[in-house]
Amino acid sequence: MNRTGLAEWLHFFRELGVDSLNLPASVLAPKEPVSLESLHKMILSCTRCPLHKTRRQSVPGEGSQHPKIMFIGEGPGEQEDREGRPFVGKAGQLLDRLIQRMGHSRDSVFIGNIVKCRPPGNRDPNDSEVKACLPYLHQQIGLLSPRVIVCLGKVAANRLLGTNTAISRMRGRVLSFQGIPVVPTYHPSYILHQREKEAVTRSKWDVWSDMQEVLKLLNS
Ligand code: URA
Repeated sequence: MNRTGLAEWLHFFRELGVDSLNLPASVLAPKEPVSLESLHKMILSCTRCPLHKTRRQSVPGEGSQHPKIMFIGEGPGEQEDREGRPFVGKAGQLLDRLIQRMGHSRDSVFIGNIVKCRPPGNRDPNDSEVKACLPYLHQQIGLLSPRVIVCLGKVAANRLLGTNTAISRMRGRVLSFQGIPVVPTYHPSYILHQREKEAVTRSKWDVWSDMQEVLKLLNS
């Protein structure tokens, strides 16, 4: 069906009183095969969910096209929305230090997010926003083919894996997405928001022990 035909059908549905169509994610998925570059172009002009109305720009993600490790966060914050790059704020600085301590660099890994546009006020992305955006992440994972995926925080881990579990129960384990090992760990913002010194030390230590698991997986 061409664009005009589709527009006529949508108009017809609207006249019948249907103002939203609950389409399966497979229908919303961009057509394959695509290069990372063309996928990111699609993301930059995406209007699949209402977040496009409030974003300054979308944030497709960045890094190596052949990364051993892919880090997945929740969604761009204010600074990321301004710069069009993932994890460039305070949480990003902590993530950078972690990546360096692991013997890697921002250029050698890939850093992305569950949703590519900033949810207003940095709220968690809702179900329909995630449903609209997740096909992009699935395509990125397919094209990048990382050896290990690190999910930063509960939103990233639960949305990627389709679960609903506390991050404290997910971390410390190696899970799997389409045969790729997934290591969930705390989001850097979680560490930054801890008030007690001991809690900061404990959560940093937990993240570091999760990253040891990542390094072990890369060496196996
Ligand atoms: N937090 C995220 O989850 N992603 C970013 O890109 C920045 C902060």
